[in-house]
Amino acid sequence: MDILELMEKRHSVRRYLDKPLPEELLSALRAELDACNAESGLRIQLITDEPKALGGFKGKISAFRNAVNYFAMVGPEGPALDEKCGWYGERLVLKAQELGLNTCWIAGSYGSKCREYTGEGEDLSCIISVGFGETQGTPHKNKPEEPRFVVEGEAPEWFERGKRAVMLAPTAINQQKFRFTLRGGEVFAEETGGFFSKIDLGIVKYHFTAASGVDCRHW
Ligand SMILES: Cc1cc2nc3c(=O)[nH]c(=O)nc-3n(C[C@H](O)[C@H](O)[C@H](O)COP(=O)(O)O)c2cc1C
Repeated sequence: MDILELMEKRHSVRRYLDKPLPEELLSALRAELDACNAESGLRIQLITDEPKALGGFKGKISAFRNAVNYFAMVGPEGPALDEKCGWYGERLVLKAQELGLNTCWIAGSYGSKCREYTGEGEDLSCIISVGFGETQGTPHKNKPEEPRFVVEGEAPEWFERGKRAVMLAPTAINQQKFRFTLRGGEVFAEETGGFFSKIDLGIVKYHFTAASGVDCRHW
């Protein structure tokens, strides 16, 4: 399937069926996770059948249901962690989508249980739930494109593909606080503030690169 089609199908899903992930899907997810960890130096973990992280907390109603499987986005602590987790986490999200699963990024509302997944010198950036959704979710509302893409001259076809992909990407509270600039044939992406915007930046850079074929990482 074309990567843009996959991105079009992906929406945040917070309620899942009470149905365990079959072994063949788990091993496909683990294979992708191992590849991500080997490439990035992160230590992303796939936690299964664990209800505490998203089970709802005292006095609070949780938007999540049966969210018992999730990726713990762990890596060496430091300023680069969030953006890297954004990039590799979205690669996992799209792999899960390709396998017929649903996901949701969670940076704000998971239980303290998740701290257990970090070791010495490591930090947890966020988690990503994964499972068979009760529904496929719904498309988010987009903010205006105009301040988010700055193009010197005429935008080539690959840039337009990248732009479409970026507007389909998940961002924290759907804030879409980023800017892509095309200058001298090169793409520069930056975040423009907001919550968890370094994670968002990694996610939108992944979408742009996967759809356009032009790497905009500059790492
Ligand atoms: C970095 C990040 C953190 C997020 N944190 C949460 C969260 O704590 N709780 C939640 O319900 N949704 C969370 N989301 C999901 C966003 O609300 C969602 O991606 C956004 O509204 C766009 O919708 P879509 O993913 O369906 O396109 C997060 C998304 C991202 C990218």
